[in-house]
Amino acid sequence: MERTKYILNEKDMPTRWYNIQPDLPKPLPPYLHPGTKQPLGPADLAPLFAMELIKQEVSQERYIDIPEEVQEIYRLWRPTNLFRAYRLEKALGTPAKIYYKYEGTSPPGSHKPNTAVAQAYYNKKEGIKRITTETGAGQWGSSLAFACNLFGIECKVYMVRVSYNQKPYRRIMMETWGAKCVPSPSLDTKAGRDMLAQDPNCPGSLGLAISEACEDAFSREDTHYSLGSVLNHVLMHQTIIGQEAMKQMEMAGHYPDILIGCVGGGSNFAGMFLPFVKDKIAGKKKNLQIICVEPESCPTLTKGLYAYDYGDVAGMAPIAKMFTLGHTFMPPPVHAGGLRYHGMAPIVCHFYDLKLIEAIALRQNPCFEAAISFARAEGHIPAPEAAHAIRAAMDEALKCKESGQSKVIVFNNSGHGHFDLGSYEKYLAGKLEDTEVSDAQIKKALAELPKVGN
Ligand SMILES: Cc1ncc(COP(=O)(O)O)c(C=O)c1O
Repeated sequence: MERTKYILNEKDMPTRWYNIQPDLPKPLPPYLHPGTKQPLGPADLAPLFAMELIKQEVSQERYIDIPEEVQEIYRLWRPTNLFRAYRLEKALGTPAKIYYKYEGTSPPGSHKPNTAVAQAYYNKKEGIKRITTETGAGQWGSSLAFACNLFGIECKVYMVRVSYNQKPYRRIMMETWGAKCVPSPSLDTKAGRDMLAQDPNCPGSLGLAISEACEDAFSREDTHYSLGSVLNHVLMHQTIIGQEAMKQMEMAGHYPDILIGCVGGGSNFAGMFLPFVKDKIAGKKKNLQIICVEPESCPTLTKGLYAYDYGDVAGMAPIAKMFTLGHTFMPPPVHAGGLRYHGMAPIVCHFYDLKLIEAIALRQNPCFEAAISFARAEGHIPAPEAAHAIRAAMDEALKCKESGQSKVIVFNNSGHGHFDLGSYEKYLAGKLEDTEVSDAQIKKALAELPKVGN
């Protein structure tokens, strides 16, 4: 019998997160203060984040214990399964061996609660009563709503307006877990009001929703802010994915030749590749190919600049050295709302700059085509974000078909697409548009980078 699922017992769930920082080939460039443009200290971050998370952001400890209370909640859905995609292999007629880790079985439907639960836990411990955040596709907002509810914390979510309109059920999900969700730009903050004065029909962006959520958190003592991607501690919380996948690949008796993930802010991809990349850095797996996939409509790594930039539109969030399209870049509305971010996790950028990982940009129509082939072969209907990873995995498998190689391809299926059926409907009706951004649009936004000796 061919084995389809690699299932770990609850007792085999990793009990530590892996922190890549001590194993980086070079140290990360520091964050800068958005006002003074000087390196940030813990006190600068304290109005926004729990002190334990600030410590994790710069920690040089290789492993950090996952608190027992967090593990208990993880066990509601973790460990997640690793699948061998035999049916997809057969449908493609490829000699490649395709595996995927499936994060869509968490209550909110993606990898995002891996960090939401941890962040809510540390905030609760430090007496925080309320947390604000932004959300693109709604996966992150619902994950934080889920986590805050478990710890009795109030949650307010600024949801990018285009997604708010496309996905009412995500809002209802957040409300079911007791959170408040408003479309961004909103009238609740100065950043939102300013944008609406400029453009009453503004579709919103992750960068702007971050400004609104930060402004809200700065204005109240009892409130912190929470970010669902990009930051080092968020990526570290996601390494539970890759650590589990390593154990499961051992069970399968294979080591990946190619690792693939989609990137918005970089957290699911990093969660998958970071535990493996140390083998590449150490020279044990020199040929391991690691590919991240972004949308052509928000081509941060493939067309952006590696420079210091603000994390948000209004210039309130820390300045980070990252590949960026410019913090004022407004990506066209694409259905993969979670991939519409102008920047990228500094850790992912660091690896990309060192050429230890590769990046490609894809249009959304071929991604939906791949999502549908995947759903017809494997059953699970993926989130449009995850569809980018699936397209890339299928393309690599088709290259193997041509070359006759039987490479081991592993990708992260970061979430289900059950609330994204509106975009599937558009695709099936042939009405999904591929929007490209012009070089002029990127150049204009890049002209507004902060002046910090870039
Ligand atoms: C299912 C899913 N995958 C991927 C992403 C992209 O985020 P990240 O790059 O942080 O994993 C999102 C973001 O909302 C998402 O919902």
